[in-house]
Amino acid sequence: MRVGILTAGGDCPGLNAVIRAAARRLMTHGHEAIGLRRGYRGLAEHDWIELDQRSVSGILHLGGTILSTSNYNPFREEHGVEKVLSQQTQDPLDAVIAIGGEHTMMITRRVQEELGIPVVGVPKTIDNDVTHTDYTFGFDTAVQVATDAIDRLHTTAQSHDRVMILEVMGRNTGWIAVYAGIAGGADAILIPELELTVEEISAAIARRHERGKDFSIIVVAEGAQLAFESGERRLIRASEDVDQYGYPRLGGIGAALAHELEQRTGYETRVTSLGHVQRGGTPTATDRMLATRYGAAAADLVMAGETGRMVALKGTEMTSVPLSDVEGIKTIDLRYLELARTFFG
Ligand code: F6P
Repeated sequence: MRVGILTAGGDCPGLNAVIRAAARRLMTHGHEAIGLRRGYRGLAEHDWIELDQRSVSGILHLGGTILSTSNYNPFREEHGVEKVLSQQTQDPLDAVIAIGGEHTMMITRRVQEELGIPVVGVPKTIDNDVTHTDYTFGFDTAVQVATDAIDRLHTTAQSHDRVMILEVMGRNTGWIAVYAGIAGGADAILIPELELTVEEISAAIARRHERGKDFSIIVVAEGAQLAFESGERRLIRASEDVDQYGYPRLGGIGAALAHELEQRTGYETRVTSLGHVQRGGTPTATDRMLATRYGAAAADLVMAGETGRMVALKGTEMTSVPLSDVEGIKTIDLRYLELARTFFG
């Protein structure tokens, strides 16, 4: 068999570990592994590299992706579908392993259903919001980076009696914010799934001060809304706004929250936005392990002819689900929300 492997969407620590595991598993069984560059663009434009034992050697611990990535969607690009079909006629692949998030899984499903190319999906995102799998690789690394940041913010917050706000990624869900917030001992956590009003947070900070704690750490997911007792809601997106010079404003929800809290409490407040630091660099051991299991399982599915599926972690078991089941966003488990609430104020 000749199997293409691609990485699509945003990058994430652990992608190389998946590529290595899938390619080696295939090669061990006498099959050929092809690296498709820049996601589905590589399939449409025949931008391929042969993967061999040597090219996937020494990449396990590296962040990013040796194949590069893009948001190329053959169903949206002009002549995208024609290009894929013509490449398949000239130089066919027997299957494709697509590593990506929810959006990539949707494209991947269509590639099998509408273009007839057998596919297997591997769920990837630091946000951990792909449905039907307990954890995506990259999440553990992002949580570790955010937790380290909280630890560092604690010491400077304490020295200056400040309120420190840490804005973490999570466009639609608060997985990173809640895990890092609990692990780092944050005093409040703001996420899209749980509404806390600005007044509630201000009151919690004031209560801490009454108890002799002169600093506070607040973690906020980028997709959280600012909520007010009046019922008003504000969704703040950093890049959607410009300043008087026409430059994009960098401050997202974290900056807006800092402004509101400082005004209400009078305590000096600072913001740190972690941004893409959470997505770069070397994956944790847990993510390398998970990525390796995903990669090997994806290759096994392809070799067994069980395509049209996404590999999935259920508890400790590596399983798979039909790609047609994978849609929507996996919001945070309510048990973690309850645990997080325990520490507010
Ligand atoms: O989906 C993962 C994610 O990290 C989101 O949390 C974040 O909003 C987004 O990617 C940022 O993507 P980009 O690389 O396009 O800035």
